[in-house]
Amino acid sequence: MARPRATIPAIAVLAFFTATMARPYPHTEVNSKVQKQAFGKLQDGRSVDLYILTNRQGAEAAITNYGATLVSLKVPDRHGKHGDVVLGYDKIAGYETGKAYFGATVGRYGNRIAHAKFVLDGTTYTLEKNDGENHLHGGFNKQVWTAKDVSSAAGQTLELTYLSQDGEEGFPGNLSVKVAYTLLTGQNALKIDYTAITDKDTVLNLTHHSYFNLAGQGNGDVLQHQLTIHASRFTPVDSTLIPTGELREVRNTPFDFLQPTAIGARIDQDDPQLKFGKGYDHNWVLDQKSPGSLSAAAQAYDPESGRAMEVSTTEPGLQFYSGNFLDGSIQGKDGKTYGPRSAFCLETQHFPDSPNHPDFPSTVLKPGQQFRSSTIYKFSKR
Ligand code: GLA
Repeated sequence: MARPRATIPAIAVLAFFTATMARPYPHTEVNSKVQKQAFGKLQDGRSVDLYILTNRQGAEAAITNYGATLVSLKVPDRHGKHGDVVLGYDKIAGYETGKAYFGATVGRYGNRIAHAKFVLDGTTYTLEKNDGENHLHGGFNKQVWTAKDVSSAAGQTLELTYLSQDGEEGFPGNLSVKVAYTLLTGQNALKIDYTAITDKDTVLNLTHHSYFNLAGQGNGDVLQHQLTIHASRFTPVDSTLIPTGELREVRNTPFDFLQPTAIGARIDQDDPQLKFGKGYDHNWVLDQKSPGSLSAAAQAYDPESGRAMEVSTTEPGLQFYSGNFLDGSIQGKDGKTYGPRSAFCLETQHFPDSPNHPDFPSTVLKPGQQFRSSTIYKFSKR
């Protein structure tokens, strides 16, 4: 029997319109998979990639497997205009040679260890002195990680793994680390989940080192951003930014961010702690509901763009660094340069120098235990 010639096109047209009408915002359709593209070659010839996570609201996070680093994060302002709110470099060479830890996954020990030394189970371990006499942050951000798309209904997820060998940078134990970045479904939020296991007693402190500017990267300083930190105490430091061991009340000090306060309101006050950090570069002791539970840690709001960010974490501490060492010498993304205090970091973590402070929450990880930690950076507009 002869088929009426119009039948197939008519069905196709009908199917097209039905599908289009069922999707009220066809232009917001996103790939269900993380998109991968080349991000260039390292000096030793190895290629690294850039992975793009998107959501239906149009937010986008780009992550490279070099250092498990967040390269860009685009979220809307109050008019719905998307802007990149993290500092970084256009090219892989910037990440390979840079010392600022832009967007980095920081480890094995985020923040400082005094005199680059600690004792564990009676053995003294000696680390590299890469911050004066102290050890700072370690080199996880200079390693090539293995990336895998493990997206689910929860959102697009890029999982990155790295095996830090026993003795690497002076730390004991083969440490297997996993960092999962998820751009959550239904909201503009980037969740970072860390897990790790070791085969020897070791210490670890993992954090995320994005430099945020909610007005958009390279758009001036952050001194007008309003910051709230849910912490009644902070850990005062010596002149080399090592905690003295005291947990000091923030009340009546420039460290009180319990109510929203402009970052620049008190940053240049004549305060010895601020002098040591050349501004804010301190760890706050978060007022957590219960240790290890995901709790609100901080909020930041840029009155200019209307972008707001909420940070929640399972970690007990938060390093607020006001970009004091940025000096305009770095050539950043899109031809921007980054001047003093042109961004802020909110690094969720255990306290600096914990291996040398038995009173601080422990950073020891033992074989048979699994280290777990989560942080969410959630964006909204006002
Ligand atoms: C951390 C430190 C700062 C600085 C930056 C990287 O936040 O606390 O002192 O070293 O990293 O520049």
